[in-house]
Amino acid sequence: MSKLDPEKIPRHVAIIPDGNGRWAELRNLPRDEGHLKGVQAVREVVRAASELGVRLLTLYAFSQENWDRPRDEVRALMRLLKRYLRNDGDELHENGIRVAAIGRLERLDAGVRRELERLMRRTEANDQMQVTFALSYSGRTELVDAVRQIVREVESGCLDPEAIDEKCVASHLYLPELPDPDLLIRTGYEHRISNFLLWQLAYTELYLADVLWPDFGKQQLVDAFLAYQQRERRFGRTSEQLRREP
Ligand code: FPP
Repeated sequence: MSKLDPEKIPRHVAIIPDGNGRWAELRNLPRDEGHLKGVQAVREVVRAASELGVRLLTLYAFSQENWDRPRDEVRALMRLLKRYLRNDGDELHENGIRVAAIGRLERLDAGVRRELERLMRRTEANDQMQVTFALSYSGRTELVDAVRQIVREVESGCLDPEAIDEKCVASHLYLPELPDPDLLIRTGYEHRISNFLLWQLAYTELYLADVLWPDFGKQQLVDAFLAYQQRERRFGRTSEQLRREP
């Protein structure tokens, strides 16, 4: 069995944790039970990622489209999220984890937002690993919000349209300082991006884990990293070029 190369741990890992509902339905349990198990998997994966040396972990915890789920399910997810932010705050903080968030956060329930803001403030100076929760998030909306801001700056005369390039667009995303993910892991047997980090995933390696999110843990994360370490990231160049000038 191959071993993980500690020198080649992906620096930024993004995750689409899918399959909580199916995990519960397969066991004739209410979907909320699947989400509850999903939170436990989040906890385990945050711990494991930090132990393995990941510096940035971005989790798609609630999409903008998820607002259209049945009201009770949305309410249950918000309750779980609030409880997670409140109960796991000490452990995250003690482990040097900084908590951040992207998305239209103003749409979140006031209680969730309060817990989130409190935890973000409390963990701001931590530098072991940053966990970014994508909440009420849509990749297209993030780009729309960036375009709006850029247009405002052009209209007010602070930005020359000729100066708009990729760097400029990237600097108007929700967290401009967050580098693009090296690895995207998606669970739940679906093979799609689902409106996640559309701009940032341009050259990200994709890993589709054939497992439902509640069954994803440290071993599955290690498997994803092993697969990642076999990849050759060429960013559009040839293997020959990479050998000559890595
Ligand atoms: C996908 O399962 C999962 C979600 C919609 C939300 C993700 C939420 C968690 C992992 C738990 C809460 C998060 C945090 C940060 C504490 P699904 O319901 O789409 O599953 P299905 O595709 O089987 O229906």
